[in-house]
Amino acid sequence: MSNGGPPATGRVHKIGPETCLDVGWLGNSRYVTRERRRRSSQWWRRLLARSTVWWLRVLYRGRVLPLSQSRGFDYGTPVNRYYSGKFIRAHAHEVRGRILEFGWPDYRAYFDPARIERYDIMSLTPGGPVTMVADLQKMPQVPDASFDCIVCTQVLLLVPDPFAAAGEIHRILKPDGLLLLTLPRISLTAPRDGFPGDYWRLTEDSLRLLLAPFSVVSVSIQGNPIAAFCAANRIATEDAGRTNLDWVDPRFPLHVNVYARK
Ligand SMILES: C[S@@+](CC[C@H](N)C(=O)[O-])C[C@H]1O[C@@H](n2cnc3c(N)ncnc32)[C@H](O)[C@@H]1O
Repeated sequence: MSNGGPPATGRVHKIGPETCLDVGWLGNSRYVTRERRRRSSQWWRRLLARSTVWWLRVLYRGRVLPLSQSRGFDYGTPVNRYYSGKFIRAHAHEVRGRILEFGWPDYRAYFDPARIERYDIMSLTPGGPVTMVADLQKMPQVPDASFDCIVCTQVLLLVPDPFAAAGEIHRILKPDGLLLLTLPRISLTAPRDGFPGDYWRLTEDSLRLLLAPFSVVSVSIQGNPIAAFCAANRIATEDAGRTNLDWVDPRFPLHVNVYARK
């Protein structure tokens, strides 16, 4: 029988002009009415589902979707980048002292320069703005309690051992140091160039588990099915509309953020 309904016994009962399974509730009339409504609404669901899929198929076959072959930076702000930016901006006023970011100083401009003592960029490989070449999973060259704030956006999905990485992040943060971490919960696969692999899509629960050593861990989510569709089809934030992206569907989030204090 339907999801969420009582378990069906398998027996078939005649109810008015309709036939339905005995739900084991001795003919609970409320359930029967709901079930009758559910069945009569199936035709429009089927019609909607099939016509939507038909249209999607036409758009994909015609190569109209996805709108970009890259991640969407070629014509706007990718949805995941919008979510990371929004989260980092919300906590920018707490960022100060010695700061570590990964790959590129994407969020440096969000922080008050007067409060930045030093800004390091870590990556697995040298080049560009990188000031520290290290593997986040094991970095004996970085002393304990080195940083006041670590901005770790869209990195842990690329790290084979996220528990080791979380342990190292905890170790190199100063007492009461701040970790701002973001990850896609659903996303395109990461490009293969320059990264050893694309390993994880972590949930709120797995992040709480990973970051258990921290004294404060606050996990938040962003996104909904419209946002997921936009991300999959590289529909940029500017076209998706912030109102559509800001609505959160807790059963289908696109992005997860962590605010943690050592
Ligand atoms: C997809 S980029 C994301 C960073 C960027 N700031 C952003 O928000 O989009 C991932 C970065 O993580 C770095 N990275 C991946 N695995 C790493 C590891 N094991 N140790 C250190 N850095 C790593 C890569 O070098 C790369 O610069």
